Formats: sequence, structure tokens, C-alpha cells
Amino acid sequence: MTKDGKKTFRSAEWFGKANKDGFHHRSWMKNQGIPDDEFDGRPVIGICNTWSELTPCNGHFRELAEKVRYGILEAGGFPLEFPVMSLGETLMRPTTMLFRNLVSMDVEESIRANPIDGVVLMVGCDKTTPALLMGAASCDLPTLALSGGPMLNGDYRGEKLGSGTHVWKFDAMVKAGEMTLADFMGAEAGNARSPGHCMTMGTASTMASMVEALGMGMTANAAIPAADARRKTLAQMAGRRIVEMVREDLRMSRVLTRAAFENAIRVNGAIGGSTNAVIHLIAVARRMGVNLNLADWDALGHDVPCLVNLMPSGEYLMEDFYYAGGLPAVMRELGEAGLLNRDALTVTGRTMWDNVKDAECFNRQVIHAFAAPYKDKGGIAVLSGNLAPSGAVLKPSAATPELMVHRGRAVVFEDIEDYHARVDDPDLDIDETCVMVLKNCGPKGYPGMAEVGNMALPAKILKKGITDMVRVSDARMSGTAYGTVVLHTAPEAADGGPLALVRDGDMISLDVPNRSLTLEVADDELAARRAAWTPPPPPMARGYVNLFHRHVTQADAGCDLDFLVGGSGAAVPRESH
Ligand code: FES
Repeated sequence: MTKDGKKTFRSAEWFGKANKDGFHHRSWMKNQGIPDDEFDGRPVIGICNTWSELTPCNGHFRELAEKVRYGILEAGGFPLEFPVMSLGETLMRPTTMLFRNLVSMDVEESIRANPIDGVVLMVGCDKTTPALLMGAASCDLPTLALSGGPMLNGDYRGEKLGSGTHVWKFDAMVKAGEMTLADFMGAEAGNARSPGHCMTMGTASTMASMVEALGMGMTANAAIPAADARRKTLAQMAGRRIVEMVREDLRMSRVLTRAAFENAIRVNGAIGGSTNAVIHLIAVARRMGVNLNLADWDALGHDVPCLVNLMPSGEYLMEDFYYAGGLPAVMRELGEAGLLNRDALTVTGRTMWDNVKDAECFNRQVIHAFAAPYKDKGGIAVLSGNLAPSGAVLKPSAATPELMVHRGRAVVFEDIEDYHARVDDPDLDIDETCVMVLKNCGPKGYPGMAEVGNMALPAKILKKGITDMVRVSDARMSGTAYGTVVLHTAPEAADGGPLALVRDGDMISLDVPNRSLTLEVADDELAARRAAWTPPPPPMARGYVNLFHRHVTQADAGCDLDFLVGGSGAAVPRESH
């Protein structure tokens, strides 16, 4: 408190001093035309922006940040926008997941090192959401996440196109000779025809939904299209609200409780959300000191019915979802079914139930009632067995029911290059009863755990009209993809997991109802293979990739760097002058 009874904030350590240090901190800021009274002790709000022309899904964020700024000013705050590294899913190589933790470090250190009292995280394309949540969680200031919103429905020759989902579908059709390459290329512009992120219930939309379900975003954060004026309104309201949150000292740790994560897991089931959410939420929880593991995903989420009929599991897209009532309508269904921790506090300052209890559904084709769900089970099945001692995941709502119990001969690809080189070889010894196995695509192996787990089927099988086979890997899968795909097998092959020991011709049994994934090879034979196995060398001798390789945890622990787990708070660092 100041002498006149005003509450003092963290930023006063920089801007509140009548001495040489205060001069330094204020004077250089004034070269941006900031008047004296902005330094009068009002809350300083960071706008953490992932805008980049290399991240097309976040390409509208400068305009959106201006609306956040208006809101902050209206509420009496002092907005200061700052950039952090942005992760664009479509361009970055080898995979954005390699850099999620790097961005989280950028975010954490940028917040802690600067005169920031509260922060709005501007998130959109897949990894930008978990990266910013993770970094901010390790600081634990009042924090509000604002998603950029999905693109409008894709459209090509009258057909509704879903981001990603139709790329996989059309690619398979070209391979099967059912679509010309010219038509395939013609669909490009219709696939992405407005600002925003992927508009299927892929990873970006899933993570935007997780932001809302965790209570970290404004109500309706998940689904308002980027091009809809109501997204701008939401941004302005978020700007107003973060100033109040600072005054209320509503820190992230008061929102991101175990109850909030339980809500998010159940919501992921109800929306048929991406498998990537499993890794990201575990990583965020561990930053926050909340105990969350793979078993929680199965126990809390697996039996939750899928209420939302959205691609890749269904027919509609995020634009339809918003018009039908969006996530609040889904959460009301869960709340009335007793599957919501109603008292979980949210950034609105109200409980989750207060936020959603009056939500309405306007289209039961898109958002089904809990009593008449779209699919009986929408969550994630967590598998274990001698092929995945630390677990693996499968998304039943995106899989073929007839393949949920399956035994087949392994056809092994040692890495992604081996897969590309041989998958369409007419002489490849494979048929639709086989189990495709892809190794060395986990966190260390790729490196970064690429989204290649939904490897396309061999052309000769697609030409038979077969569209799904059991596939097993240590990779991830795009949230826009589908298939009977076992993912995140841990430990990964490059870390010496049993996946490294699988050979062509081994029999593999998948039993989803009993949650097992079994390599039918005798223990003594596996021991002999292990004795002959040598780990692959680090992908880089120096730099961030080498650091990542030495410290990344396995998928079941969230793929964070081991030294980043937990938080350090927002204590003001040592004076600089
Ligand atoms: Fe950015 Fe899909 S490519 S969200």
C-alpha cells in the first residue's frame, strides 16, 4: 500500500521510485510517447503476443491486441505489448513441438524480468497455447489467455472443408486414384479462406477449448470465429478483465487447480478433442504443481460421451459449433450430468457453473444432449503392456470400432525416412490385417515428437478401398487426423523403449476395452534383442536441440524439459542499475 492507501503492484519496483533507478525505468519508456500519469501505480498489463507472418493462424493478432489494449486502458491499466517466439504449425521444421518448451522459457523469463503485474496470453496455432500457459504458470501472476479464434468453414465446390482433415482425406483419394492432382491443388485456397486457426476440432480448437474449460479464458473463448466481430469484443472484454484480476490478485494458481484440470479432461472427452491435449495439460499441470498423469485421463475422461459432432470425428466445424452455442452449451450439459466441478474459479471471477449454467444449445445436430450423445465415448483410452510400459494413448472416437480389438503381424519402419522410402513399394509385404509400426518419432527420436503417427496407408491398400489399419508409434498425431492409431508409446524407441525391439513378423495385440498393447515375443528373446540394441546418437552436438535431447521427459510426463517442471513465482529480480 502507498501512503494514501492505494494498493501497490509489482511494477512499482520499476516505475514507482523517485531515484536514479526510477529515472532509468521511466525515461526510456517515455521515448514511446507515454505520459507521466501512466506511471502512477496503475496495473501494468503485458500483452504477450505470438503474432508472426510465419504463423498464419496468428496473423491477425496485431489487430486483436489493439482491442485488448483498448480494454486495458478503459479499465485503468497500462498496457505494454511484447513479442515472444511464435510457433507456426505449417512451416516450422522439424516440428513445432521441438520448440514448445523453448517458447515457454521465453514467456516465463520475459514476464518475470519485466514490470508486469498481469498478462494476457495471445494464443492460437497449436503449440502457442500450451507454450504460453506453461511459461506463465511458472511465474504465477494474474493471467488470462485469449485465443485468436478458428477460421471460417472451409469451402471448395460446395463441399465443407475441414483444416487438416480434408488434406488427409484428399491426399488418400489422390493416392487411390479418386481425385486428380489439379483438383487437390485447387482446394488450397478454399481450405483456409479467413484469418484464424484450424477450424476442425484439431489441436488448436481443442486447446482453445481447454483454455475455456480450465477457467483460463473468457466465456465463449473457444469457438467465436476469428473473422467474427464478437472475437474483437471478447478481446476488449479480456483487456478490461485482466486489470480487475490484478486488483483482485487472482493469480493463475487460484484458477489452475486440480478441479480445473479435471473439468478440462472431461470437456476434452465431450468435444472429442485432440490426443495432443494429454501431453500439453500434463505439462501445464506439472508447472503448476498439480499432480496429473495418464491414468487421470482414462479414469476421468474415457467414459465421457462425445457430444460434439465436429470433424475429424464428425461432420461440422468450429463456426457451426459457435452458432450452436459453443463450449458453454457443452459444459452446461456436463454440469447437469454431474461431471463438472462447478465451484472451480475462473478468470471471470465467477465459478465455472456461474459462467455456463444459463448457456443454450441452438442446434442439436452439432451439440448433442448428454442423454442422446453423438458418440458413446469421446475421451482418450490409455493403454499399457509390454510394448508401452509407461503408457500409450488412442482416441476411440476417431478410430474404427472393428479394429479396437485386433491382432496382426508387425510391418516395421525404423524411422520416418524408412517409412517414406518403402510405404508405397508394391513389393512391401503388407495387407490390411497387419499392424504398421513406426519407430524413432518420439521426443528424442525425431526430435520433438512429430505428428506422423497417423502415417498414411500404403497406396496398394488404399486402392482396395481400405481406409484404416492399426498403427503403432511413439509419435503424436495431428488433432485433425483420424484412424486406429496408437500414439505416444512410452518409453520411446530412441530412449530404449520396447518399441525399439519390434521386428517385422512379430505379432502385436491391441485390446482397447482391456487397455492393453502387447508384443507377443518371449521375454528372453526381447532381452537378447535389447542386448544388441544401441541408442541413436544425439541429433545435434550443440545448441537448443542438444539441450532438448538431454532433458526432455517422455510423453507420459508431458515432454517438458526436466529442469523446467514447477515454478519460481514472480518475485522481482535484482535491481539492474
Ligand atoms: Fe495453425 Fe492448425 S496450422 S492451428
